[in-house]
Amino acid sequence: MTTLVSIRNLTKSYQRGPEKVDVLHGLDLDMAAGDFVALMGPSGSGKTTLLNLIGGLDAPTSGEIDVAGQRIDRMGAGQLAAWRSQNVGYVFQFYNLMPALSAQKNVELPLLLTKLGGAQRKRNAQIALELVGLSDRTSHKPSELSGGQQQRVAIARAIVSDPTLLICDEPTGDLDRQSAEEILGLLQELNREHGKTIVMVTHDPKAAEYASHTLHLDKGVLVEQQAHAA
Ligand SMILES: Nc1ncnc2c1ncn2[C@@H]1O[C@H](COP(=O)(O)OP(=O)(O)OP(=O)(O)O)[C@@H](O)[C@H]1O
Ligand SMILES: [Mg+2]
Repeated sequence: MTTLVSIRNLTKSYQRGPEKVDVLHGLDLDMAAGDFVALMGPSGSGKTTLLNLIGGLDAPTSGEIDVAGQRIDRMGAGQLAAWRSQNVGYVFQFYNLMPALSAQKNVELPLLLTKLGGAQRKRNAQIALELVGLSDRTSHKPSELSGGQQQRVAIARAIVSDPTLLICDEPTGDLDRQSAEEILGLLQELNREHGKTIVMVTHDPKAAEYASHTLHLDKGVLVEQQAHAA
């Protein structure tokens, strides 16, 4: 087993004026390369906070975060931005697509940060859209797509740079049961067949069953680990 994510004694507090909000209290976490982890816990327990730290969107108050041998807690903002663009793909509950752009152009966006030329960007975006089953919707704008299809575009955008780690924050939270199952099946396929390591926050125990195991976050620490049947 190769460890991809190793977190030690992680704390995170937010300062709001005179008030200090302690969210994570000395959390440890190991994720193997090829893992699909579901992260559950009550609202406000710090799930999004933890995802943002693993994905380098925010900096910890203290503690160590090692991803693929790199101490991201020690990186400066510029270094971290470059690291993120190469290593992490994000999928959010409300898709966060650019409304004025086609599916194709939305998926190409992360590639604008790379050295790839226009033709190659286009090809890579087409491959990603094909992988999520949307080859026939590449010129549609988000408003011309269903919720499930918009989330597929968001997943294509998340994988187009071929990141090791996919970070999904309630990716099915806004979808009906059938679309949710399709998205979860797609994530499982990306995990099993394309080797993506995935950490997914969900409030839905049925969604968590698609993962290889579930971690529970409560009162700032991970309290329980539950393996799933393969
Ligand atoms: N920027 C911020 N400033 C101050 N407090 C914050 C900030 N971001 C989050 N918090 C607080 O941190 C705690 C954890 O928030 P977080 O968004 O991580 O919860 P969550 O587990 O993702 O909840 P949910 O299931 O509702 O999405 C909450 O009490 C929240 O109010
Ligand atoms: Mg959240």
